[in-house]
Amino acid sequence: MKFFNFLFSRKFFLKSKGLPKHIAIIMDGNGRWAKKRLLPREAGHVRGVHVVKNVIGLAKKYNINSLTLFAFSTENWTRPKNEVLSLLNLFDKSIDNEKDKIKSNNIKIKFIGDLSSLPSDLQKKITSVERKCKKNNGMQLNIAISYGGRSEIVRAANKFINNAKAKQTISEKLLSKNLDTYGLPEIDLLIRTGGEKRLSNFMLWQLAYSELFFTDALWPDFDESIFTNALYFFQTRKRRFGSLMDI
Ligand code: IPE
Ligand code: IPE
Ligand code: MG
Repeated sequence: MKFFNFLFSRKFFLKSKGLPKHIAIIMDGNGRWAKKRLLPREAGHVRGVHVVKNVIGLAKKYNINSLTLFAFSTENWTRPKNEVLSLLNLFDKSIDNEKDKIKSNNIKIKFIGDLSSLPSDLQKKITSVERKCKKNNGMQLNIAISYGGRSEIVRAANKFINNAKAKQTISEKLLSKNLDTYGLPEIDLLIRTGGEKRLSNFMLWQLAYSELFFTDALWPDFDESIFTNALYFFQTRKRRFGSLMDI
């Protein structure tokens, strides 16, 4: 399978110019990957973390400025308690294991989502790794945990209301300023693994004009050839943003 992926890889057709600046990924399919191997779903999530590390390396290799990974949605809280706990535990351990490497690889890390609903120990670790890497100026890595697009927009609207001057009305610019992603470049390319063609409440505001790449590959099987196929797909799009001119 991997061999065939390599054979059909678009890697060799990629141009160095016109790569996406910001890629977001819905990392779906861990549970099905595990099920196919008669393993518990958690085994798929563990494998998924290895792939996350690999993809961060790939993003660096292809000079992607910003990478946003969807790790846990506001709706994922409704999963069985043991799966939620094992995911939270995995996030906790991954921060412990990776924080030094993130720092030494000059990666700037930011967690987005309704972080106040996470266990307080995990919240502290998140703040601490973000601080640790604050002075880094290389790739921007955003991890969306307890993230929902609707929840983000509502939180942004409330932030605006709480700080608004009398009779001030909201605008696109002011709402954007209050989003978790404020200051990050627009998402150029969204990748979703696992075969579903839906957004599952991810980045509803930010994906307005992104190019969408869907693959049937399950997240634990995601590799360089699928990544470069997505980059090639992006490079062959004509982006018009509503006008008649391609850019
Ligand atoms: C994505 O994989 C990871 C999370 C949502 C946390 P899933 O756990 O959704 O795996 P499938 O879609 O059931 O295979
Ligand atoms: C989306 O996957 C969330 C993450 C990848 C973190 P889901 O598995 O939760 O999405 P649905 O339930 O198939 O829409
Ligand atoms: Mg899923």
